[in-house]
Parts: sequence; structure tokens; C-alpha cells
Amino acid sequence: MNEFNPRKTPWQIDEADFYEIENREEQLRFLLRYAVLAPSSHNAQPWSFRITADGIEVFADFERRLPIADPGDRELLMSLGAAVANLRVAAAHFGYESTVLYRTPREESAPIALVALRETCAPDMNLARLFTAITQRHTNRQPFEEKAIDETALASVIDFMEEHPSTMVFVVPHDRNRVADLVAAADRILMSRESFRKELADWIRPNESSALDGISADAFGIPGPLSALAPWMIRRFDVAASHSAHDHQLAENAAGLIAVTADDDAISLLRAGETLEILLLILTTQKINYSFLNQPMAIGELRQELWSMLRSARPPQLLLRIGYGRPVLKPMPRRPVHAVEKS
Ligand SMILES: Cc1cc2nc3c(=O)[nH]c(=O)nc-3n(C[C@H](O)[C@H](O)[C@H](O)COP(=O)(O)O)c2cc1C
Repeated sequence: MNEFNPRKTPWQIDEADFYEIENREEQLRFLLRYAVLAPSSHNAQPWSFRITADGIEVFADFERRLPIADPGDRELLMSLGAAVANLRVAAAHFGYESTVLYRTPREESAPIALVALRETCAPDMNLARLFTAITQRHTNRQPFEEKAIDETALASVIDFMEEHPSTMVFVVPHDRNRVADLVAAADRILMSRESFRKELADWIRPNESSALDGISADAFGIPGPLSALAPWMIRRFDVAASHSAHDHQLAENAAGLIAVTADDDAISLLRAGETLEILLLILTTQKINYSFLNQPMAIGELRQELWSMLRSARPPQLLLRIGYGRPVLKPMPRRPVHAVEKS
């Protein structure tokens, strides 16, 4: 039997295996293989799941929270919403209708979402058509080409954004530079904080690590031999100046910048995470790359400044740059389903 490789095995799913399964519980367990491929802040994968007679309960794993980078659990909740989106897309592909009930997490042990699943002959095709993108979606932090987004591809993105005007907003080109300034200013503040660097370093992994979570150093372009030193370097050195100049350039040269906006309550954030992941899957289907530049959201005044620039009804939660870059060759690790399933 092949050894489990956390950067490979979870991403290689043979969908034909689903049709060999006769038992409903095992089928739902198969769907979870797609849910765990969702993006999450620092790749902390702050989720667990329980299969029930009605569907799947989704729980927040608060032991995986990021108290410094995400003190209000905003990104944790959006990450959970993203996992729900993958679950629904996979469910639609395999002929299930899904309905989701989100709950405010009052007690940490209670589910934050109940995804009811019912077999149907008319699954949601808007969801099902995104299925193949689940295993192809990767956050791409490399510099992008200075090239405009293909018009047809952009039209699909705009169509989706127009269906979600309260959650998705384009930064107008005129504001691109000012937004890049905000990203760089936030970087300087955050990266000069030792506590921020320490928490980030705790989630950075050497490229050949067998860890099931966290971000491999190659995602930041750090090659093999240096990657083992990456956590130490981040912890030890104040890299604020170089990091902020780098991110300024990424924001400035992006073919487009998209802000995800939502109210700050838990249910709005869970829903925003679900919409975020659908957008990321659409981008993937359209062969558009993306990465996050959320830093201004961590600093109150900078977030406020971004909000007034966006003129959106709701506050910004995330900022994405889109464009065309070299493909990500090695996906980030994932925990297997048995590690995230509650009995
Ligand atoms: C809510 C949320 C916030 C994120 N914030 C950042 C971020 O600020 N910077 C960044 O480089 N990546 C960010 N990411 C991307 C994650 O680091 C990435 O999803 C994770 O490492 C797994 O990699 P993958 O997306 O390639 O599967 C974020 C992802 C989510 C869902």
C-alpha cells in the first residue's frame, strides 16, 4: 500500500470510487474528502465533521484558532464556510441536494452548520459544474504576469460577483495604488510585531515536512535547502520592509483586486466563506490565479480606509488579487478525513 503523503494523497481522489459505494454513510464520508480540500487561513483546517442520518454536521475546531492573526475568528469562520461550499459542490456532482443551516457558535461543542443531504435527480448544476476545480484550486503567491484577464473568463467572474453584490466588490483601477499602499502599511505594522511573526512561523513547514497542516515554505518561493530555516528566520528577523515592498508590488501589478465584504457576525462570515470558495472555484475553472492580501483588515484604521474606498455597504473581510502566474506544482498538505471526523 502506498504511504500517505499529505501534499499528494488527499488531492488524488478517484471519483469512480464513489459509484462503488452502496452505503449512504460511506458515500457522505467520501464527500468529506472534498470538504477537507477547502482553503483555510494558515492552512490550519479548523474543522471537524459528524455524519448523521440527515447529512453532515460541521464543527469549528477552536484549538486551531489563530489568536494573533485572527483574534475575532473571522477567518476561521470563513474557512469553515469554504469547507461547506466544497461539500455542497461535491454533493451536487454526486447527485445530492444540499441545504445548509448555519448557527451562531454559542457553545464550542455545538455544530456551526448542518448540511442536510438528500438524493435527487436534479442536483444544482451551478454547483456541480465546479466539481473538477476542487482538486485544481491552489492559492498562488507568485508574482503574476502583467496581463489583463481574458474577457470571456472575466465575464464569468463578473456574472457571479453581480449575483453577490453585497459580498464581492472590485477595487476600481483608479484606487489600485492606494490599496497597495494600505497592504504595505499593514505589512509593516504586522511583520514588525514579534507575536505575529512567531504565530506565522509556527505554521510554516519545511518543504519536505510530513506535517498534515500549515503552509510549506515553497508556497512563498523558498527553495528546499533554505526551507528548514524559514520558521526560524521569520521568528528571528524583522522582515517588515522587504515584505511590504514585495506585497505592494503584488497588489499594484495585479490584473484585478477583489474585496470580500460581509457583516462581522458569525453567520454572515460563514456565508461569506461559502461565497468566497465558490468564487475561487470559478476563478480556477477559468484558469485565473489568485492569492490573498488581507493585511489591511487586521488594522482597524486601515480597514476603515479600505472600506471607505470601496464604498461598499458592508465592511471588507478579505482582499484577493487575481491574474496569471506559474502553476502551483505541489499542493499544500491536508489532514485525511479520519483525522477530522467526530464519532
Ligand atoms: C479566510 C482565509 C484567509 C486567508 N488569508 C490568507 C492571507 O492573508 N495570506 C495568504 O497568503 N494566504 C491566505 N489564505 C490562504 C491559505 O493560506 C491557504 O488556503 C492554505 O495555505 C491552503 O493552501 P491552498 O489554498 O493552496 O489549498 C487564506 C485562506 C482563507 C480561507
